[in-house]
Amino acid sequence: MLDLLIKNVNLANAEKAQDIGVVNGKISQISAQIDTPANKVIDGRGQLATAPFIDSHFHMDSALSLGQPRLNQSGTLLEGIALWGELKPSLTVEAIKQRALELCRWSIARGTLAIRSHVDISDDRLLAVEALLEVREQMRDYIDIQLVAFPQDGFLRYAKSEQNLLRALDKGVDVVGGIPHFERTMSDGSESIRRLCEIAAQRDLLVDMHCDESDDPMSRHIEVLASETVRQGLQGRVTGSHLTSMHSMDNYYVSKLLPLIREAQVHVVANPLINITLQGRSDSYPKRRGMTRVPEMMEAGINVAFGHDCVMDPWYSFGTHDMLDAAYMGLHVGQMTGVEQMKAAFDAVTTNAAKVMQLDDYGLKVGANADIVICEATSSVEALQLRPERLYVIRRGNVIASTTPRVTQLHLAGSDSDVSFSKGLF
Ligand code: FE2
Repeated sequence: MLDLLIKNVNLANAEKAQDIGVVNGKISQISAQIDTPANKVIDGRGQLATAPFIDSHFHMDSALSLGQPRLNQSGTLLEGIALWGELKPSLTVEAIKQRALELCRWSIARGTLAIRSHVDISDDRLLAVEALLEVREQMRDYIDIQLVAFPQDGFLRYAKSEQNLLRALDKGVDVVGGIPHFERTMSDGSESIRRLCEIAAQRDLLVDMHCDESDDPMSRHIEVLASETVRQGLQGRVTGSHLTSMHSMDNYYVSKLLPLIREAQVHVVANPLINITLQGRSDSYPKRRGMTRVPEMMEAGINVAFGHDCVMDPWYSFGTHDMLDAAYMGLHVGQMTGVEQMKAAFDAVTTNAAKVMQLDDYGLKVGANADIVICEATSSVEALQLRPERLYVIRRGNVIASTTPRVTQLHLAGSDSDVSFSKGLF
């Protein structure tokens, strides 16, 4: 007897529609036809079933704070950081928690069931740490939340950062963060990377740094991050987030850099929604896009994910935490319009992101967690075309969100008809 049987769904990389059986919160069977009786049966109607969407780069402490205490008028990264600084003194644990919990509800509705959130530790009270640790616990049954100790005001630039970071890790924050391009000098940036990797190595933790989120082609901290990763034996455990300066770097230098990143097995998270709006702000025309070199890195064998980064906060006024929006923007900005590239953009918010977060038991395969999202689209590429409803969001075999299919009726020339946007091409 199965706990759940999902009939007739398309999997991202399978030729034909499949059935999926679930027992005890795990996927017990995937095959063309399962006839075992089940407590609950879902008719997939030939729609796409995927492992959940994953946001491997997010800021839950600032999410949904848009307009507090005012809006970002210039729209720049620096005004965003200044605005967050204005909001910080009036933050409370309860207010951060309520916003984060609301965000989690949005995430679940969109099928985003794993989130790596940076948490600002430049506030000596560590209110955001306390709030997000509670949220991580409260949402444990629904969302895998990983927290990154993020020294927003600089690790060396703000005197108490090291102390605060260690306190945050002691309290249970999972990952060591950093922001080398925001230190006072290039050499301080390098020193911060060295020290932060040392802390991670000593404590056996992962690393995820905001790195080179700048249009300055000479911002080359990723080189130091890759080199420290190798020197301290952290291969496969380090992530470089943003890496926007690479957009503006000299091509010859990048040809040396990519193999270095690959050798260190550094994961990369690009944040297209945010960087297309924040980068190139000091340019007139031509105006740089600013996203890091995603297709080139994928081609070089580097694991690249897309993050959402922000939802309605001092840096970004949009978003509903739908990772298909991030992938859609990413493929546009990266001009990833080949069919394999479109599929890769989908992987960047699913399987690649799972590698960044090192999630065990992820994926639609026998023995994995029964965490499954059924989208109102026939394939992963069509999901990108339509950014459709998530019909069912399933966690450990339980339906935790469901959405009624969208139906729009036209009333033309005296007769009514439904509109379908599905072309079923891919
Ligand atoms: Fe970020």
